Amino acid sequence: MNASSDTPPRSIRSFVLRQGHMTAAQQRAIDEYWARFGVDYRAEIIDLNAVFGRNAPKVLEIGFGMGAATTEIARRLPESDFLAIDVHGPGVGNLCKLLAEQGLENVKIMRHDAVDVVENMLADGSLHGIHIFFPDPWHKKRHHKRRLIQAPFVAKLLPKLQSGGYIHLATDWEEYAVQMLEVLNGFPELANTADGFAATPAYRPETKFEARGKRLGHGVWDIIFIKKCFNAQGCT
Ligand SMILES: C[S@@+](CC[C@H](N)C(=O)[O-])C[C@H]1O[C@@H](n2cnc3c(N)ncnc32)[C@H](O)[C@@H]1O
Repeated sequence: MNASSDTPPRSIRSFVLRQGHMTAAQQRAIDEYWARFGVDYRAEIIDLNAVFGRNAPKVLEIGFGMGAATTEIARRLPESDFLAIDVHGPGVGNLCKLLAEQGLENVKIMRHDAVDVVENMLADGSLHGIHIFFPDPWHKKRHHKRRLIQAPFVAKLLPKLQSGGYIHLATDWEEYAVQMLEVLNGFPELANTADGFAATPAYRPETKFEARGKRLGHGVWDIIFIKKCFNAQGCT
C-alpha cells in the first residue's frame, strides 16, 4: 500500500503523467472555477444526481484531453450531465475555462485516474453513457498492456451502465479499432448498434487528436454498443 493513498499502487497505467506546461490562464481557471466544476477523488460511492443537482442522464467521459469536444457535446446535449475525467493538468484548466466562458453547468471535472474512479466512486447502473474518444493507442506491442480498452477494464465499466445505456469509443488507429470491436463483441450483455464500425453520431464533433490523426493520414473508427436488458428479474 502507498502511505499517501488508500488504494494499492498499480504498475500498469494507461497514461504517463507528463509535466505539460500549464498556462497562466489555465491555472487561473482552476483556481477560480474548481469549486464550481471540480469533483475531488475519494474512494467512496457518490450520488451523481446530488453532484449535478438534478435528475438527468449521466455520461462518463474518460480522457477529455483539452476538453473542446467535451464542451461542444455538453452544449449539444443540454439534457445530459457529463462527468469528464483526465489526469492532464493543462487540459483540466482549459476545460474549466471553456465551461466558464460558455456558461455550461452540465459538466463536472475530475483530475484522477479514471480506472480508480470507476472502481471506487461510481454506483452500478448510474450511467446512461460512456465516451472514450481517441484513448492513447500505445502503438508499440510491448506497450499494448497499457491500452485502456481491454476486457478486464470493460468488465469493470459495464456494471456502471444502465440497461439501454451505451458505450461509444473512437480511435484513429486501425489495429486498436479492431481490438476494441473484439473486446466489446466478447460481452454478451452488449449489442453492436452497427454492422461493425458505426457512423460518427451527430453529437460527436471532431476532437483535437482526431484532427491530428487525420493530418497524419489516419482513418477514424467509431464503435457504439448498447447494454441489453440482461437481467431475468426485469430491467428498467
Ligand atoms: C490521446 S488523448 C485524447 C484526448 C481527447 N479525447 C481527444 O480526442 O482529443 C488521451 C487522453 O486520455 C487521458 N487518459 C489516459 N488514461 C487515462 C486514465 N486512466 N484516466 C484518465 N485519463 C486518462 C490522457 O491524459 C489524454 O489526455
